[in-house]
This record gives sequence, C-alpha cells and structure tokens, in this order.
Amino acid sequence: MPATVILGGQWGDEGKAKVVDYLMPGHDAVVRFQGGANAGHTVVSDQGTFKFHQIPSGLLYPGVIGVLANGMVVDPVAFIEELEALTGRGIEVEGRLFVSSAAQVVMPQHKFLDNLLEGERDKGRIGSTGKGIGPTYSDKHRRSGMRMADFLLPKERLHDLIEEKVADGNRRVQIHGAPPLSAGKVAADFMALRERIAPLVVDTQRLIHRWKGEGKRILLEGAQGMLLDIDHGTYPFVTSSSCTIGGALTGTGLGLRDIGRVVGILKAYTTRVGNGPFPTELDDQTGQYLRDHGGEYGTTTGRPRRCGWFDLVAARYAVMIDGFDEIALTKLDVLSGLETIRICVAYELDGERIEHFPQGADILERCTPVWEDLPGWKEGALGHRRFDSLPETARGYIELLERRLVVPITF
Ligand code: IMO
Ligand code: MG
Repeated sequence: MPATVILGGQWGDEGKAKVVDYLMPGHDAVVRFQGGANAGHTVVSDQGTFKFHQIPSGLLYPGVIGVLANGMVVDPVAFIEELEALTGRGIEVEGRLFVSSAAQVVMPQHKFLDNLLEGERDKGRIGSTGKGIGPTYSDKHRRSGMRMADFLLPKERLHDLIEEKVADGNRRVQIHGAPPLSAGKVAADFMALRERIAPLVVDTQRLIHRWKGEGKRILLEGAQGMLLDIDHGTYPFVTSSSCTIGGALTGTGLGLRDIGRVVGILKAYTTRVGNGPFPTELDDQTGQYLRDHGGEYGTTTGRPRRCGWFDLVAARYAVMIDGFDEIALTKLDVLSGLETIRICVAYELDGERIEHFPQGADILERCTPVWEDLPGWKEGALGHRRFDSLPETARGYIELLERRLVVPITF
C-alpha cells in the first residue's frame, strides 16, 4: 500500500495533528520522520487534550503501530516522560512503538548549546524552541553524533561513549565561555534509561518496508512546515531538518514510488512562532483577534504566535516544492466575524511586483504584500461539517484559494 504523507505548508502549527487524527482510522501505522521535541501536536479527543512532541500523535488510536524514524533527533529523557505520561492517561503505547536505531540522540549539551547560541545572537536570534534540535543535527552532519543504536551497546561501552560525547560537547560549550556539563551525570541519567529504551530500538527502515510488504497502510506525520525547512525555508530562520517531501523519504528509507498521497496542511490565515520575516504579519487589532480566536499560543513553548493574513505566494511555493495532491484548510472558523478578509496575492519588492517566493530571509524581509480583499462572513463557520452548509462568502474564500493554488481543498 502506498503511504500517505501529511506535511505542514506554512511555518508550522497548521493543525497537522488534527488531520492525522482524522485520517488515522484509514491507516495502520504512523511514522514521524524528522524533527524532535520542537514539535507540538495537539489532539483534542473524547479522552481530553493530548500534546505530542516526539511520539507520533496518530498513536492515540488503539491498535495503531508507530515509529520514530531515522530522520528524527530523539531526546531520550523527554521521550520516556512523554511515553509515561501517555501510559498514565490510559494510552498504552509500549509494544506498538519503535524507535529507529539510526535516529540521532539529543543530549543535554545540545540543549545547552542551543540556548547558548541563541543568547549570543543579537538581531539574528532564531527563536529556537531550545530543544537542542540545531546542535544535534549539526553533530549528525559532522558525523559525530550519538545514535539510538548506541543504547544497545554493552553497559560499559555505552557509559564511555556518553562521556566522550559530552566531553566533545563541552569543548564547544567552553568556547562560548560557559561552564562544562558533568559527563558523569549525563552518563548516569542515560544509563538509567537504557533498560527502558533498548527494547524499542530497531532497524525501522526494514520494519517500515516489511509493513509495506504486508499491505499495512502507513501515514507519515510531518512536523514543522515548509517555510521552516532547512533547505527550502526562510534560512537562517528555519529549523534544522527537512520538513518537506524529501525529508519524508530520507527520514524513513521509503522510496518515491512508496508514496501515494501527499496532503498539505494550510491554516486559513498565517502564524509564525519565532523570529524571521513574515510579510503578511498583522501587528494590530486584527492580529490580536486572530491570536485570541485561534488560541495562537505555542504548544511547546507557550509563546504567543505572530499572526497574519493568508499568504498565497508562500502557499504556491509550498505546492511547488511539496507537490500536494490535496490540501486541508484548517481553522477557517477563526476568520468568522471579520468584515473583510485579505489575502496576499503577490509581493512588491523594491518597487516591482513579484509572484514567486524569494530565496533568502533578507530579500523576503524587503517584500510587502499586494492584497486582494474578500468579504467576510458573520455567522460562525464552526460546526459546519459540509462544504454546502458554509456561509456563501466562506465557500467563496475556499474556492478562490483552490483556484489559485490549483490543488483541491478536500478538508
Ligand atoms: P509543529 O510540528 C512552529 C520554529 C521555532 C523557531 C524555529 C527553529 O508543532 O508545527 P528549533 O527549535 O527547531 O531550532 O526552532 O522553528 N519551530 C516551530 N514553529 N511549529 C513547530 O512545530 C516548530 N518547530 C520549530 O519557533 O522559529
Ligand atoms: Mg505546533
């Protein structure tokens, strides 16, 4: 069975988990393929509200099997905490959750360095979640990181390896004039997790291909979003993983032909948490309206999210890079009650109109939106389960986006 991929089409927080939750009943397995604890995937279910960070949110469904695949950076301490919190709420995931032996391990020095580096940046502060994502991927690409497979080493060798990795991190910590971390403490903390973690660590590339062979329907749960992608996003204000379609392949070991359906998630307006250019940002009452009505506060950090109108230029770029087969448009109801709704249809850059999404944060910073105004709708769009029953102007908004993006909006 070809897999389904769920991808964020903006700066993250598009409501990916809601769509995962919606599509999960038609699937058997769920796979996270990039990022780590920087993600915050919220699912509101009959059993309450669940916030997932590293564990795929699709695992909320009983009987679903799940993977933290090779493209991820896994914080083992936070992972076990998340797992236990789920167990504590009656969601038993042990026995149906596997972690890739090739996934990188987030260690305390990575989180420490993440915050150190952010503290040193002045204007260029990225607004990192502080979860150690950047430094862990740096070590991966420097070919000196710890991998989950290392938890399978004999005790003494694992202990030594952890101490070596911390010592390596400390050399960089000291360059920044900060006090070194205790290698002994990190080793002790990690060793205490070994028994819990080791049984979950497997070769997930093989496992996923076996599932595929057995006809299992696999859903890949993306984290972050298109514009935060390390290659295609608004560099340097990005995360350090591939959150676009390419990451779904390298992050799992699946091939191009194994993917059957790519679903892009777009919010009916735009949000960004963290720094970097954001052409359609609203620094006014309307921005505050979106924040209040949309509950736009970070799941991982609690920070208020920056809010603005829908950016068609950025959305077209996401369609181009990710090749969405269909789009889920989320949080349309948040726009209810607004007199006028604006969308950005092009940018003005140095006095010229451009239709494409420019490469590089510095150029995007100089872009101002070219607006098109649409009539809003007074009645709430909430509770409407069918397209036909939506207010006419809300349908008009959806149809306009669909036409301009040339991709069907199916949810
Ligand atoms: P989900 O999966 C929104 C942002 C951070 C920061 C930048 C780099 O919930 O959509 P990092 O900690 O990755 O080094 O931070 O990326 N960021 C997210 N923004 N949603 C997310 O995940 C994010 N994960 C990281 O705010 O600007
Ligand atoms: Mg989030």
